Amino acid sequence: METTQYKFIGEGSFGQVYLSNQNTAIKVFNLDDYDYDYDYDYNRELITNEIRIVKNLTHPNLPKYINSWEDKDNIYLETNYGGINLNTFVKQFPDKKVPIHIFNMIMKQIINGICYLHSQLIVHGDIKMDNILIDNNNIMIVDFGLSEEESKLIERIHSNDYEYVTMFNRPPELLLQCGDDLFSSKIDVWSLGCVWYHLLNGNYPFFGDSDIDQIYKIFQIFGTPTIHEFPDLYKCKKYKNYQLWPKWAKIASELTTNPIYKSIFVYDPRKRISCKKLSQFL
Ligand SMILES: Nc1ncnc2c1ncn2[C@@H]1O[C@H](COP(=O)(O)OP(=O)(O)O)[C@@H](O)[C@H]1O
Ligand SMILES: [Mg+2]
Repeated sequence: METTQYKFIGEGSFGQVYLSNQNTAIKVFNLDDYDYDYDYDYNRELITNEIRIVKNLTHPNLPKYINSWEDKDNIYLETNYGGINLNTFVKQFPDKKVPIHIFNMIMKQIINGICYLHSQLIVHGDIKMDNILIDNNNIMIVDFGLSEEESKLIERIHSNDYEYVTMFNRPPELLLQCGDDLFSSKIDVWSLGCVWYHLLNGNYPFFGDSDIDQIYKIFQIFGTPTIHEFPDLYKCKKYKNYQLWPKWAKIASELTTNPIYKSIFVYDPRKRISCKKLSQFL
């Protein structure tokens, strides 16, 4: 496909997206420069997985599959157009803080989309502002490049070496490389909480400059977890010798006192609120 005739509308880490003349979005996966860390066959498998997941979605807040095809160099995925991403959208507001009535309208739809995915036993795996689009008040969650059925999640997280979910929105069970039985759709709930905070405050709740700094930023707000609040801590690879870790106390802030954040930002994913229960807050 000759993409020069189309308008370029987006670039992420794994593909370029173009707007077609029919007002559809075409995501182009270049097989050669897809991801050098993996071999060709594995890259192909990941792209095929993304397309397969998108094909099976039927929800107003998720993309509608239109077509997919490939030529010598690329694989293409065509879906309906979803608008601009939330990082672009928030720029129109002072300090990038979204007014509450708009926030409620947006968040309801984000939650509906994520709850639908979870009801289908799919984990999105990369919930962030770049992957949420808005067009005329309609929200669409895109980018199923990291999405997996829950039954295959552990395998995927291992093959990504725990680099699952963009770091700022990555939950503690991934940052600390905890036991396999802790990986579930609650990963998306933590990331959703980060988007929730970001939309209202204009910045990330936890903004680390490395994996370790990211978890430190979280501990410095909620306090270093105790075995009591997170009994599986000892199963976390990165938390070996936890006796030696800095012991921060929980601070008083909106993140530690607001009931919504208190139910989302819970160390133990088993005790973290589900998407379905969260929808009752709005
Ligand atoms: N259906 C769509 N409609 C409009 N823009 C889109 C659509 N899908 C993706 N985009 C834009 O392209 C960007 C990259 O697409 P994405 O699927 O997230 O690719 P990547 O896997 O490379 O991150 C998104 O952040 C968004 O701005
Ligand atoms: Mg993306």
